[in-house]
Parts: sequence; structure tokens; C-alpha cells
Amino acid sequence: MRAQDILASAGPQAEHIEALWWIMLLICTAVFVAVLLALAWALLRAPRGSPATPPDLSSLALPERGAAIVVAAAVALSAALLVYLTLASYVTDRRLASLGAPAVQIELTAHRWWWEVRYMDADPSRIFTTANEIHIPVGKPVLVTLKADDVIHSFWVPNLAGKKDLIPGRDATLTLQADVPGRYRGQCAEFCGVQHAKMALLVFADPPEQFEAWAASERKPALEPASEEESRGREIFVSGRCAMCHAIQGTMASARKAPDLTHFASRETLGAGTVPNSIGHLAGWILDPHSIKPGVNMPANPLDPDELHALLAYLGALR
Ligand code: CUA
Repeated sequence: MRAQDILASAGPQAEHIEALWWIMLLICTAVFVAVLLALAWALLRAPRGSPATPPDLSSLALPERGAAIVVAAAVALSAALLVYLTLASYVTDRRLASLGAPAVQIELTAHRWWWEVRYMDADPSRIFTTANEIHIPVGKPVLVTLKADDVIHSFWVPNLAGKKDLIPGRDATLTLQADVPGRYRGQCAEFCGVQHAKMALLVFADPPEQFEAWAASERKPALEPASEEESRGREIFVSGRCAMCHAIQGTMASARKAPDLTHFASRETLGAGTVPNSIGHLAGWILDPHSIKPGVNMPANPLDPDELHALLAYLGALR
């Protein structure tokens, strides 16, 4: 995975932002150095004296005309640089909005503290929902509609695009594109409560065929249990507390308060990027999520060991 860094851009949006960042840094550094040099020059030229014998200042003043030219030039240069930086920001902003027609449309809803990801389609039977991990086809524009469920969050995948807030009751959009296949980490960038820091997401930029294969698999209902233990696990899930918040397509569980788990085992992390999605972490998460992510909405689930094993077997098979 690339470092989560605006200076490691992997798409046109991030490249424009990175270019603007370098322009701002170079110009501001040059201005800073020039101001310090002018200050040093003034200090070196200052006549030395003591309170008892004040220095003679009469020889100091630049000739009237020379001083006027230097000051006017400095003012004109400062104004020109400010205008240039403003124009550069404006042009960058225009470019960010200039990607072509989107190949994929995603509705991203921020919740405390996870991301609901819905892949939209004109045909409602092709819409599907996942959480915390976004797959996109490489080299194609993706339109992301940003919504929030509770408080203000902010969507930021530095390698791919700038950040944009998700505000309850006010939809915004952001277009992004990845030109380099890979896995990019994103982070909620607006303080949204105690687990704001553990509100990450992953963007996978896949070759288009691989993306289509992934989407086709996500559209399917959950796999049927392949063993007696998995069947028992499904029974525990559907008849217990899990189904009050989570959905698994193809079962009775259809709540939308928490991540959709239909293809849970195909995801890499648990708790919005908090821990890897391994059987050990999953067991710990189910039994006591607050020890991993204090304040999370999911309650502790004191299950018997054999119930837990059955549930783990079932969830672990939901590819
Ligand atoms: Cu969501 Cu910070």
C-alpha cells in the first residue's frame, strides 16, 4: 500500500493538488528567504551606538528616488505573486471538477464511526451495499455522493483526491480517479467523536475486469452455509442480537444500523480499519468490541464458546 500522503498522488485530482502544493511551498519559501535576507541586510547596515552616544543616522537614508523604486518594486512583486497564487488555486479547483462522465456511482454515508458504501445503478436490482472498503476501476472517474447520518465527517483519501465534508442533510459530491492500481488508505478528517481516529477506509483500485468480477460477486446474496456448524452460526446470527443492526442479504437479517455483512469475509479489516479481519480479532470484536474501539455502538456479546465458534465459522465463510 502507498503511504497515505498527498505527495504520493495516484490520480489526476491528487496530482493537481500536489502540483499546487509545490507551487505554494516554493513561492512562499522564496518570499520567506527574501524577507530574512532583507532583514539581515538592514541589521548589518544599522549603525552601532550606545545610549550615551546615539548613532548618527543622517548618512543612512537611501536617496529619496532609489528608496521609492525599491519599495514600489517590492509591492508590485508581492501583489503579482498573490494574484498568481490565487489564480493557481482557482485553476486547480476548476480542474478538480473536470473529470468526464463517471463510470461508477457510489453513495457514501458516514456514520459514527464507519462508512456505508452503496454502489448505485439505474437498475435497482444491481444496487449493492458494503462497508469501509471501496473498490473502483483503475483509470475511470468515480462519482461519490457524500452523506452523513449523525454529525459532520470528512472523506479524505490523500493519494486520490482532496478532502470533502459529509454534512447531515446536505449532500455533496466528489469525483475521484485512480490511475495506478493499488490499495489506498483514507481517513475521516473531521473530528466526529471519541473514535474519530478509528474511522478509516480502504480504496482498492482494481483493473476493470477485476472490479467487474468483484461487483458481480457483491451483488449476489450471501453464500449458503456449507456445514452444520455454519448453519448453526447463521441461526445464531439471525435469531440473536446481530440481526437487530446488521444485514446479510439472502437471510432474514436486513437491518441497516450497522455494516452490511453479506460478503463480510471478503473485507480486509474490522471496525473501519481498526484491526485486521482475522478469526482471532473477529472473536475479540464479537465478545467485547469496546476493548478494541471504546464507545462503538456495538454491544458486547457474551456467547458460549461453541456458539461463538459456530458464528465465527459462518461469518468467516461469507466471501
Ligand atoms: Cu468521522 Cu471523524
